[in-house]
Amino acid sequence: MSTVAKGTGTLQAPVGARYAGMLGVGGYRPERVVTNDEVCTWIDSTDAWIRERTGIVSRRWAAGEETVIDMAEHAAGPALEMAGITADRLSAVIVATVTHTMQTPAAAPILATRLGAKDAAAFDISAACAGYCHGISLASDMVRGGSAEYVLVVGVEKLSDITDKRDRGSAFIFADGAGAAVIGPSDTPGIGPTVWGSDGEKWEAISQRVPWDKIVALQEEEAATGKPADWVAAGAIDATEASTLKMAGQTVFRWAVWSMAPVAQQAIEAAGITAADLDAFIPHQANMRITDAMIKQLKLPADIPVARDIAETGNTSAASIPLAIERMLREQEVPRGGLALQIGFGAGLAYAAQVVRLP
Ligand SMILES: CC(C)(COP(=O)(O)OP(=O)(O)OC[C@H]1O[C@@H](n2cnc3c(N)ncnc32)[C@H](O)[C@@H]1OP(=O)(O)O)[C@@H](O)C(=O)NCCC(=O)NCCS
Repeated sequence: MSTVAKGTGTLQAPVGARYAGMLGVGGYRPERVVTNDEVCTWIDSTDAWIRERTGIVSRRWAAGEETVIDMAEHAAGPALEMAGITADRLSAVIVATVTHTMQTPAAAPILATRLGAKDAAAFDISAACAGYCHGISLASDMVRGGSAEYVLVVGVEKLSDITDKRDRGSAFIFADGAGAAVIGPSDTPGIGPTVWGSDGEKWEAISQRVPWDKIVALQEEEAATGKPADWVAAGAIDATEASTLKMAGQTVFRWAVWSMAPVAQQAIEAAGITAADLDAFIPHQANMRITDAMIKQLKLPADIPVARDIAETGNTSAASIPLAIERMLREQEVPRGGLALQIGFGAGLAYAAQVVRLP
């Protein structure tokens, strides 16, 4: 028997790039424009009320057969092109979404294969409206930690699938779209420290109305008894509403306004800059009034460009920040290479913020 102790070998530690940066972004907006007037054919509301309370004028909804993977693919192409790399150089593909229609497998491996990112590590993350900023944080750490060279991060949602068109409290807010960013090695720091966290005590503020196991149990009960099950006791009007989102609007509003500005401020400080150094403020496009309240609390310079993509894109959850970046760059509202503060927040509750140098 050997007397040599096991576990004495020296492990190689991964070696990554000194810095990571955002090398390219891309966006995809589905073709169909849903106006406030159309929303008002589903719920008792007005165009003026929706504009005033949310800043939304119209939103995009995907076609019935269009999937989150289709939309992600459309957003990834221009992001890779701007980064100047081909998909086969991606070591990882991260998809932030809560609307991929299968519990498993994740959307990311299918997307990676479609793009030609052969053998890339690929996984989804579920952090709702904060998902994209979580993905940027992971990708940056992967590049610097040596587990990846180039990482594609996609935020994509088809929220129209889980929006209850009868719900006066949320039918007007959610929308569909995809935004993508390529993260890779950089000579200078391109992604500041992430300030992130969660508050599971408030999980009910935005959630699926009825969990899948309960939906299945109630459907089985209906099949066995031949009578309608008590969907109302389970938290929904009926079976069709059970898997849709419910949102405690005022709870979310208050949390976002009061708790997220300090997080954004911490991200500025962690990046070693001041608000005056920022070229853009790109918060999650949750609601224009939340954005305005954050600007005031952060005391941002009056002339700083602020993402207001929500007006024509609606709230696309994980996709909203990269979509807003794509628009601001395309419309030359912010300079290439400028510093942007981005913050995502939503269901979980979960949040993440960082200062990034735009590609
Ligand atoms: C959803 C939201 C716009 C609702 O606005 P609100 O001011 O909180 O609405 P309330 O439910 O308190 O209702 C206020 C009034 O508007 C009315 N109202 C509610 N929904 C309405 C609608 N869709 N159309 C017209 N009127 C409406 C109510 O009946 C109430 O009227 P009353 O004052 O005569 O009783 C707001 O809470 C919000 O933006 N929350 C944050 C949501 C968000 O950002 N979610 C995404 C997070 S990722």
